[in-house]
Amino acid sequence: MLSKPNILKSDGAALTAACNFLTQGRLVAFPTETVYGLGADARNVEAVARIYKAKGRPSFNPLIVHVASVEAARKYVAWNEMAERLASAFWPGPLTMVLPFKTDTPLAPAVTAGLPSVAIRIPGHQVALDLLRHFDGPLAAPSANPSGKISPTTAVHVADGLGDKVDMVIDDGPCAVGLESTIIGMLEVPKLLRPGGIPTEDVERAIGQPLGADLDDDITAPGQLASHYAPETAIRLNAYEALNGELFLGFGAMECDLNLSPSGNLAQAASNLFGHLHELDEKSATRIAVAPIPDVGIGAAINDRLRRAAAPRA
Ligand code: TXA
Ligand code: MG
Repeated sequence: MLSKPNILKSDGAALTAACNFLTQGRLVAFPTETVYGLGADARNVEAVARIYKAKGRPSFNPLIVHVASVEAARKYVAWNEMAERLASAFWPGPLTMVLPFKTDTPLAPAVTAGLPSVAIRIPGHQVALDLLRHFDGPLAAPSANPSGKISPTTAVHVADGLGDKVDMVIDDGPCAVGLESTIIGMLEVPKLLRPGGIPTEDVERAIGQPLGADLDDDITAPGQLASHYAPETAIRLNAYEALNGELFLGFGAMECDLNLSPSGNLAQAASNLFGHLHELDEKSATRIAVAPIPDVGIGAAINDRLRRAAAPRA
C-alpha cells in the first residue's frame, strides 16, 4: 500500500503551502479543468527530475509548461500570429500549443526532453490560475498518474496512484472537462498531436485551415503510444451488451453498470470517462465492455482514449 500524500482543500492556506513546496523544488498536484496535474517549478532541474521519477515516466517524453498569461508564455516560446489567434480563441482553456523554444529560456532542459520546442498552455481553472499567479513562475505538469495508467480527475485518484511520491495535493473536486488538453504542433504546418478537450473542428475554424495529422513518427511520446491510459482490466469497445462476467459502461439510455451520459451528452461523457473507468477497474471484472460513442466533437477525443485503453499492453 502507498502512503497517502497530504490532501488540502483549495483555500488560501493550501495555496501558501503549495507555493512553499514548489519553491523548495517539491511536487504539488493541482486541479485543472482537464485532469489533475503533477506540478513542479519548470526552471528547477531537480524538481523536474522528481516528476519523471514519481511517474516512472520515460525521459524522452516532454512535459507541458503551465503559465498564467500570454505575456508569461512569450518568455519561453517564439510567438507568432497563429499562436496569437489560438490563444485569444481558447486560453485559458484545454488547448496546448507546441512552439519553438527561446534559446535563452530558463526552463530545465528535461522539460522539453531535448526537443527544440515547448508545449505550453494557460489552464482554464481558477485554482490552477491562482496557484500560477501566487507562485509567479512556470509549472511543468504532466497528468498526475503513474506513467501509462488512467489520468486522475479527482484528488483521490492522484493519492491512489502516486501516494506520497507527491508532496501535497490541492483538492478542488472533479475536473469539469475530464480529458487532457488538445495538443497542436505549430512548428511548420499546424498539426493535431493529441485530440482533447477542444474539438479539432473548433481549432480548424479558428485558424481557418485544416490541421495536418501527425503522420511522421518523429516524436515517440507515451501520450501517443497505442497502449496508454490503461486500466488493469481488459476493455472491449463498441459493445451493445455485457457478455459473461463483463461490466458494461454505457452511453445514452440503456441498461448498464455505469453510464457515461444517460442523456447521450458528449461533454458529460468526457467528464465522466476516467472516473468511471477508475471505478469499474476496481471491481476486478474479467473485462469492461464499452458502448459506442459518436465520433464527433469531443467524442473523437473520448474514442482516442478508449482505443488506447483497449490496445494490447506493451
Ligand atoms: O490537459 C493536459 O494537458 C494535462 C494537464 C495537467 O494540463 N497535462 C497532460 O500532460 O496531459 P501529459 O504529460 O500527461 O501529456 C503531455 C503530452 C505528452 O504526450 C507529451 O509527449 C506531449 O504532451 N508533449 C510535451 N511537449 C511536447 C513537445 N515539445 N512536442 C510534442 N509533444 C509534446
Ligand atoms: Mg498523461
